[in-house]
Amino acid sequence: MLKNSNLYELYFWPDDSSSDRGAKYLAETISYFKQLQDSNLILRKLLEKDEWSILEICAGAGYGSLVFSSLFPDKKIKVLVTDTRDLLMESARLSATLGVSGSVFKVCDALNIKRFNQKFDVVIMYGLSTPHFSPKESIKLYSSVKDVLTTDGMFIIQEMDRRKAIFLDGNYYKKAYAEGYGERLISEEKGYDIGTGMIEREYYSESNQLEKVTSKSFFWSVAETDALLSFYWDMVDKVSLGGDKYFLISHTS
Ligand SMILES: C[S@@+](CC[C@H](N)C(=O)[O-])C[C@H]1O[C@@H](n2cnc3c(N)ncnc32)[C@H](O)[C@@H]1O
Repeated sequence: MLKNSNLYELYFWPDDSSSDRGAKYLAETISYFKQLQDSNLILRKLLEKDEWSILEICAGAGYGSLVFSSLFPDKKIKVLVTDTRDLLMESARLSATLGVSGSVFKVCDALNIKRFNQKFDVVIMYGLSTPHFSPKESIKLYSSVKDVLTTDGMFIIQEMDRRKAIFLDGNYYKKAYAEGYGERLISEEKGYDIGTGMIEREYYSESNQLEKVTSKSFFWSVAETDALLSFYWDMVDKVSLGGDKYFLISHTS
């Protein structure tokens, strides 16, 4: 079984853009990327280029990179959509819906992106994926992104402030919690690894018979992610997307 496949079956992530939830997620993604486009934070040097290459990591079907590409119809864009789960069909469907040609899907762990031996103008990690990486893994991840990014390139992360959402606003720290996604999905605290900082929770659904899944997460605040990114890039800009959600845009120029 591929890494995280079980968790995302239970979580019922909206990978299928032709479903009702997928259509809603797509509309939300378009509105977020339009906010980014309106923010004037897309680098001038990048906008001057006619051809872009984009890599999306932890991409699922590729909502982030495919929506971003669709907003720049005058550019010739090549998109590499990657995830540890094989979502080739979902990604092809989404590309067709958005009218984006030139996208390729590959199964790849985000920690191994240097194996592509390629430089990208934009790297995107969209859709709240930072909890999959411990602090040590995040350092490896961001340094790999830095290595595969062109000097004028941008790294775009979309995240929420989990410290605020979980520890201040929410009641997530309870032993059992009704998750916001899927039907009657419950998660229960199972453990904490002091070495990696990952919190282990067990997920199960009351409405289907899938097996219980244990998953480890690190609950990053925006400030912590910002601090790590600042180690690799001169500038980390932020666009508030409402609620606790943000884009963090890292670049050197
Ligand atoms: C929160 S989902 C977001 C999916 C997608 N970006 C979206 O917005 O629909 C996180 C994704 O990261 C993937 N993932 C988790 N760990 C990964 C890793 N080490 N490398 C690549 N993908 C990973 C999961 O399979 C999942 O699709």
